Parts: sequence; structure tokens; C-alpha cells
Amino acid sequence: MGKWKICCGVTAILFIIVAVVFVILTFTLFKPKDPKITPQSVTLESIDLVVFPVIKGNVSLGLVVTVDNPNYGGFKYMNSTAYVNYRGNLVAEAPIESDSIPARAKHNISTTVIVFADKLATDPNFPTDFLSGVLNFTSSTILHGKVRVLNLLKLKASSSSGCNISILVQTESVDSVCKSKIRL
Ligand SMILES: *[C@@H]1O[C@H](CO)[C@@H](O)[C@H](O)[C@H]1NC(C)=O
Ligand SMILES: *[C@@H]1O[C@H](CO)[C@@H](O)[C@H](O)[C@H]1NC(C)=O
Ligand SMILES: *[C@@H]1O[C@H](CO)[C@@H](O)[C@H](O)[C@H]1NC(C)=O
Ligand SMILES: *[C@@H]1O[C@H](CO)[C@@H](O)[C@H](O)[C@H]1NC(C)=O
Ligand SMILES: *[C@@H]1O[C@H](CO)[C@@H](O)[C@H](O)[C@H]1NC(C)=O
Repeated sequence: MGKWKICCGVTAILFIIVAVVFVILTFTLFKPKDPKITPQSVTLESIDLVVFPVIKGNVSLGLVVTVDNPNYGGFKYMNSTAYVNYRGNLVAEAPIESDSIPARAKHNISTTVIVFADKLATDPNFPTDFLSGVLNFTSSTILHGKVRVLNLLKLKASSSSGCNISILVQTESVDSVCKSKIRL
């Protein structure tokens, strides 16, 4: 009878220790964190805009972002979209196909966004901006996905990044300032 009690007591204590360690790890080391998106570069792939006699043409921007998954589990993201805004209005978007990033790995995603002139033409400031030689855009990339922790739990994670982009029309060049965390 005494041996049984000791045995069960030890087993119970071990069980509690294992459970506590598991819970602590789940909430610390294995706690799912949002992957970080760092914009790497914005390139002007082509610019072909005419404002007279009619506004036509297009601008093509290449966006490269690095996604850093800090988790001890894979991050699987859904089909997503990169957006480009001009003076606060959405003027172009490009799809980003769903993919997964292994545990503690980095991954580059590149996409091309084409802005068509008719979208810009709806903004009355466009001709003035064009003639001033600088067109300002903002871009944003948001990924929604799930992180798998300890091969058991799937938790939602999302990540965002954004850039302020200035296109210099005369020199056909681009300046950009980017941030990894943005609020929309
Ligand atoms: C962009 O504009 C150029 C010149 O107007 C044209 O040749 C090209 O086909 C356009 N690109 C797209 C994707 O429409
Ligand atoms: C994601 O996009 C690809 C290609 O555009 C498509 O084939 C696939 O069905 C999409 N997946 C979902 C879940 O929408
Ligand atoms: C992603 O792109 C950046 C900049 O172009 C480069 O330094 C980095 O090595 C690339 N990372 C991967 C995982 O390809
Ligand atoms: C465009 O962005 C540049 C750099 O952020 C700024 O100096 C300039 O005033 C902006 N122009 C317009 C028309 O918003
Ligand atoms: C873009 O510019 C706006 C206004 O100047 C500023 O509030 C925002 O933080 C900038 N975003 C980035 C990514 O630099």
C-alpha cells in the first residue's frame, strides 16, 4: 500500500512537471509570433506616361519583400495582395500566391504592380504632380496565415509592411522609404 502511494505520488509529480514545462514552453519559446515582413527594394521597371492630349500609359513597379518567420514552426500564408495607393486611393494591386515558410527561415517574395494611367487620371491632382516631376505612391503588403507550433496548434498570424514611394519622372528613378510594421 505504501509503495503504491509513493509510486503514484512520483508519477503525479512527474506528470505535473512535464505539463508545467510544456505549458511554459508553449507560452514562451514556442509562443507564435507574427512573421516580420521587411521591404527590400522598390524598383521602377518601366514608366510610360503621357498627359497630353490624353492621360495614358502605365507605370510598373517591382516590389521585393523578405518575410522572416521567427517561429519554431512553419508559417503558411494564404493568397495575398500587394497594394499601391496614390493620394490615398487604391490604384493598383498585384497577387501574391500562397506559400509556406519553414521554421526560423527567411523567404523573399517579389511581385510586379502595374499602375495604369486611367486610374491616376481620376485624381484631379495628377496632371500637376506629373508636371512637378514627382509622383508619390504608398505600397502595402499584408500576409495572413497560420503558424504551426509543436506540430499541434495552428494559430493565426499576420504581418504587414509598407513603403512611401516617390517616382521622379524626369530621371525615371524611384526613392522609397519602407517600414515593416504598418497600420492601415
Ligand atoms: C504599358 O504602356 C506601354 C506604352 O503605352 C504599352 O506598350 C504596354 O503594353 C503597357 N503595358 C501594359 C501591361 O498594358
Ligand atoms: C491561390 O491562387 C492560385 C493562383 O492564382 C489559385 O490557383 C488558388 O486556387 C488560390 N487559392 C485559394 C485558396 O484561393
Ligand atoms: C532576399 O533578398 C535580399 C536583398 O535582395 C538578399 O540580401 C537576401 O539574401 C535574400 N534572401 C533570400 C532568403 O533569398
Ligand atoms: C512626395 O514625397 C516627398 C518625399 O516624401 C515630399 O518631399 C513631397 O512633398 C511629396 N509630394 C507631394 C506632392 O506629396
Ligand atoms: C510615409 O509618409 C507619411 C507622411 O509623411 C508618414 O506618416 C509615414 O510614416 C511614412 N511611411 C513610411 C513607411 O515611411
